[in-house]
Amino acid sequence: MAHESRVAIVPGSFDPVTVGHIDLIERAARMFDRVIIAVLTNTSKQPFFSLEERVAMLCDVFKGRAGIDVDTFTGLLVDYARAKQARVVVRGLRGLTEFDAETQMALMNRRLNPDVETVFVTSSETSGYVSSRLVREIASLGGSVDGLVPPGVADRIAARRRTSTLRQV
Ligand code: PNS
Repeated sequence: MAHESRVAIVPGSFDPVTVGHIDLIERAARMFDRVIIAVLTNTSKQPFFSLEERVAMLCDVFKGRAGIDVDTFTGLLVDYARAKQARVVVRGLRGLTEFDAETQMALMNRRLNPDVETVFVTSSETSGYVSSRLVREIASLGGSVDGLVPPGVADRIAARRRTSTLRQV
């Protein structure tokens, strides 16, 4: 029987991409033939980085990586997965506090489309405390984000700081 290509979606806001996301995506890439990083277009809140910036930062990180693509999506995640012929959604789990919300989302997605499975990957011991929310907060308050985000993201934050456009978290 021909080998069916295993495609996984790693969805998120990526506002901004952190070392935790990179760890998750690299580990997903070891498990699947193709990983599509799907950046949510229509966040309900005002994003810290524009969609274009978030995509550009991800493309910088994964430039030239075979089997890892960056894309955007709008609407239901399961509809996007179906359109991409992906049967798996990969989500990172940093701890028990996220378990409730992530399980709820996984169950709802399964109700919407039982053909799409959610796979949880536990965060690594080195980046389990890193989140985009905390990075945004630290960036807004003038702290160092070095080591929490890839260098390209730290550069963008530093550039914004120079022009004093950092505001909301
Ligand atoms: O990085 P985030 O913000 O935790 O990612 C959340 C995301 C993008 C995975 C989630 O908000 C999502 O899938 N949104 C798409 C809309 C959707 O499908 N909603 C129903 C899910 S139960």
